[in-house]
Amino acid sequence: MREDTIVTALALPPEALDLLSPLGRVVGPERWEEGLRDASALVALLTTGVDGALLARAPRLRVVANAVVGVDNVDLDACRQRGVIVTNTPDVLTDATADLTLGLIISTLRRMPQAEASLRAGGFHGWRFWDYLGDDLSGKTLGIFGMGRIGRAVAHRARPFGMRILYTSRTPLDDGDEAALGASQVEWGELLASCDVLTLHAPLTPETHHLLDGAALRRMKPGSFLINTARGALVDEEALVEALREGRLAGAGLDVFEREPALAPGLLDLPNVTLVPHIGSATHETRMRMALLAARNVRAVLRGEPPLTPVER
Ligand code: NAP
Ligand code: GLV
Repeated sequence: MREDTIVTALALPPEALDLLSPLGRVVGPERWEEGLRDASALVALLTTGVDGALLARAPRLRVVANAVVGVDNVDLDACRQRGVIVTNTPDVLTDATADLTLGLIISTLRRMPQAEASLRAGGFHGWRFWDYLGDDLSGKTLGIFGMGRIGRAVAHRARPFGMRILYTSRTPLDDGDEAALGASQVEWGELLASCDVLTLHAPLTPETHHLLDGAALRRMKPGSFLINTARGALVDEEALVEALREGRLAGAGLDVFEREPALAPGLLDLPNVTLVPHIGSATHETRMRMALLAARNVRAVLRGEPPLTPVER
């Protein structure tokens, strides 16, 4: 039997290595780039730029298993032209990412970072009636841009908190799903103007890059909040800092940034933001499911079977 070389930018757990080792040689994160020349499969991370130059160094490549759901790090056209199958890890991370999104909404509206910073700095002098006031979720309008797996899971979680749900998405939900989620579709301009909290859940593509530029940020309801757990570059981060500094927006909860790991100048100095370092799917259970799904996709393709979760477009 022909031995395959599988290169992995991800340090795979033993359970995933057990799936791949019978297929051939597994080259780990320290040496994956050297192994590309012979590689039939690449397990990639969102920090792995899979472009024409990388593909040229990997003439035998048959599959790129992206161990995340977003594929903005992969040149899909170049892969298609080279006959390289691309897979990702949908569904298994939806709950974790939606949970984190709800966490950011609560943290930001209730000003938890400011309250915690004050406590740590010795500013807590006992319970005071008018101190540390935030905003209720109940009665607020949540706007969801991108009503896919994560967007729907966020709507599902936000509704029991008493939030009204509006959304803008490429493909509308069917009537049954709209009714089940209590969600109504509106135009993008209306979403911007009418939501108290706007949360982003669309992929990063040429169409969504800087979707929230300075002009769009100015169209947001004054005093509203922005939550982003999708991709940083959906937002012009410098323009966001300006909107927050001027108080046009009341706050932001951000898991993703335009030029990770760098943050836009001034972002760290703003009190009214909750900032976490791209941890949407970072739970023990979810990361294990993602690693195993990536390994299963590689195994399927190398065995000549259909991949479990191919990226179709
Ligand atoms: P998904 O199920 O594909 O949902 C994306 C939604 O956005 C779909 O409803 C899609 O519409 C819609 N959309 C795409 N382009 C659009 C456009 N130009 N205008 C309006 N709507 C558009 O993906 P998902 O699993 O929910 O993940 C969404 C994104 O979250 C990923 O791409 C990734 O970047 C990000 N993410 C981040 C983390 C994290 O750690 N922070 C974790 C997981 C995912 P269609 O139905 O027509 O395709
Ligand atoms: C994480 O950001 C993902 O796209 O899964």
